[in-house]
Amino acid sequence: MKRTVILGTGHYVPPKVVTNFDLEKMMDTSNEWIVQRTGIRERHFVEPGIGSSDLAYEASIRAIEDAGIDKSEIDFIILATLSPDHYFPGVGVILQAKLGLAGIGALDVRNQCTGFIYALSVADQYIKTGMYKRILVVGAEVQSSNLNFSTEGRDMAVLFGDGAGAVIVGPNEEDNDRGILSTHLFADGRFLKDLWMEKPSPKDNPVFSNKMIEEKRYFPRMDGRSVFKNATVRMPEAVKIALKHNNLTIDDVDLIIPHQANYRITELVARSLGVSMDKVMSNIDKYGNTTAASIPIALDEAIKSGRLKKNDIVVLTAFGSGYTWGSAVIKM
Ligand code: UT7
Repeated sequence: MKRTVILGTGHYVPPKVVTNFDLEKMMDTSNEWIVQRTGIRERHFVEPGIGSSDLAYEASIRAIEDAGIDKSEIDFIILATLSPDHYFPGVGVILQAKLGLAGIGALDVRNQCTGFIYALSVADQYIKTGMYKRILVVGAEVQSSNLNFSTEGRDMAVLFGDGAGAVIVGPNEEDNDRGILSTHLFADGRFLKDLWMEKPSPKDNPVFSNKMIEEKRYFPRMDGRSVFKNATVRMPEAVKIALKHNNLTIDDVDLIIPHQANYRITELVARSLGVSMDKVMSNIDKYGNTTAASIPIALDEAIKSGRLKKNDIVVLTAFGSGYTWGSAVIKM
């Protein structure tokens, strides 16, 4: 069976930069608090009217160019997001139309911060079975339009940013062992309320009510400490399971790309795996947490900066709302 290789990567963040000092003007917070507790210095926010599909399109164009393929070669799209342009249909079909690829299948993945790893895992199965030859896998998010930028919402509002990352995958046609070695996916839905956007919900009739708006229940909410604790346990656990599965040790790994949730979480993941931060990718200072986009953005940056080279072993890991978590091991 041919392994799935990454043929090209790309990312895009909107031009508007919002610093911690900008947030200081909107709520009772400080640059010092945000940097110390999260490692974030700035993030990018879209202008009104720009959706996840727009960011996904820009990242996709870059990945297609990087792969050196014609977009018409793409035979399937998988798009991970928690912030679709609309309640329905999904963003995958909107991206498909924007790319001028009417006809091919487009699948939305709704697994939040772990969305890209879930999406990559699905793509891997399709490539390995020979069902598709060129899959566009994207993580794209617009978070900034639904965060509570008052002091009441500061625990969430300072964390998130907008952006998108994309990869093109296909079968390894060469005589070598490069490609995706494994993906491991996990979830525990008992924790759904630890990090969720409760409303609007079709469980309510009518779906929209003044009460829901007055109570501001349409903003995402989280139990930050629980998320923090679980993230620092589940990500190293998922990496260790993946390494064992592939008969690899941590010394065989050239780079770990964890979901960019909080620099302190990343440091604790590194410590738990017994590696220094030299082996761990972090770009949260520039982008904040871009949910499903964080791993493909970091992957693209790692490749383009030369930190990740051909034949290197990279381990991706993520944890987030659901709870969902997982890992992927790739020989680049
Ligand atoms: O992809 C997964 C998405 N979510 C996450 O990754 C979140 C994981 N959790 C975290 O990163 C951390 O829990 C936070 C960064 C959200 C919070 O850090 P913490 O060290 O756990 O702080 P805390 O929740 O213990 O709060 C400490 C204090 C509180 O004040 P009091 O009660 O001690 O007076 C908060 O109200 O910090 C306050 N606080 C803030 N202060 C200034 C919370 N948010 C802010 C803020 N600015 N933005």
